Amino acid sequence: MHVLVTGGAGFIGSHSVEALLKIGAQVRVFDNFSSGNRQNLPSHADVEVCTGDIREPKDLAQAFIGITHVLHLAAQVSVQDSIAQPTHSCGINIQGFLNVLDKVRTHQIERMVYASSAAVYGHPQRLPLSEEDLVQPISPYGLEKSINDQYASLFHSLYGCSALGLRYFNVYGPRQDPKSPYAGVISKFMDCVRQNQPLTVFGDGSQTRDFVFVKDVAQANVKALQAKAKGVCHVATGTSRSLLDMIHVLSKIAGRDLQVIHQNTQAGDIPHSAAQVERLNSEMEMVCATEFQDGLIILMNDVLGVKE
Ligand SMILES: NC(=O)c1ccc[n+]([C@@H]2O[C@H](COP(=O)([O-])OP(=O)(O)OC[C@H]3O[C@@H](n4cnc5c(N)ncnc54)[C@H](O)[C@@H]3O)[C@@H](O)[C@H]2O)c1
Repeated sequence: MHVLVTGGAGFIGSHSVEALLKIGAQVRVFDNFSSGNRQNLPSHADVEVCTGDIREPKDLAQAFIGITHVLHLAAQVSVQDSIAQPTHSCGINIQGFLNVLDKVRTHQIERMVYASSAAVYGHPQRLPLSEEDLVQPISPYGLEKSINDQYASLFHSLYGCSALGLRYFNVYGPRQDPKSPYAGVISKFMDCVRQNQPLTVFGDGSQTRDFVFVKDVAQANVKALQAKAKGVCHVATGTSRSLLDMIHVLSKIAGRDLQVIHQNTQAGDIPHSAAQVERLNSEMEMVCATEFQDGLIILMNDVLGVKE
């Protein structure tokens, strides 16, 4: 496999590159380094790094030479930024996506896997969410991801492109930048633990999320590249936890009580999220199996610089 990984220098991308190397793939990373970092990437004979922007078809044309598979992760990833600057976000997440998909078509790429998101659902009508549930995004970011899903499905019908969108839920793990506006609550809390600062919880902390460890997400990306399933598929554990629950586990790991400050719920915050994962389990033969506490220990060791 000669895999082009767009956004490969980012959080999920760099773990995916490592997972691809483990199965013997040749990897070409394509990134504009707007939020990704070269230091996230291993120096390895089978990894080539290409600087470019998905908004530039010329950059992509070079990058696609000799490629058989595409893992498309590059995106404007901040929900808040998509609300503040919707046209900028659209340029990357819709036009940029279409540029990549069109190269998949013209280069007759065997398989494309791309990052969709649980954000397509907006306020869920029922839980746990299934892939068939109504898509009702409440941000430009969620809308862009759902338009990506529609484009991929249309390109399959029109041109036979084999593409699968993975709807990641709340991904956590090493290399997620806690300062990024999109950083998950876990990265932010870890940063507070490291700096001995109180944790800020918006609302009473009863909100629930399906937190999925980044190495499981990377493994799902690899499995999806090797599978034939089309359409969309959740990447989640199938178990949701409340923030208070998470803080309890974090306190146990840190070996001390963590101080919590409660603030008003943020506008647009979804109280609960939960995923069905049957499609991932059966069609991708994949389970996101990292125990929550184990994932948090790995992350805390990473944040505190403790060698495993
Ligand atoms: N982290 C999550 O919890 C989560 C949840 C759902 C979906 N996603 C999706 O997963 C993908 C990866 O997200 P991440 O969390 O690793 O974020 P990230 O910011 O770490 O990675 C995004 C990468 O894309 C690159 N990039 C951005 N714009 C680009 C452009 N125009 N051209 C080329 N490269 C560009 C960045 O430099 C970065 O390396 C994104 O598509 C995101 O929307 C993430």
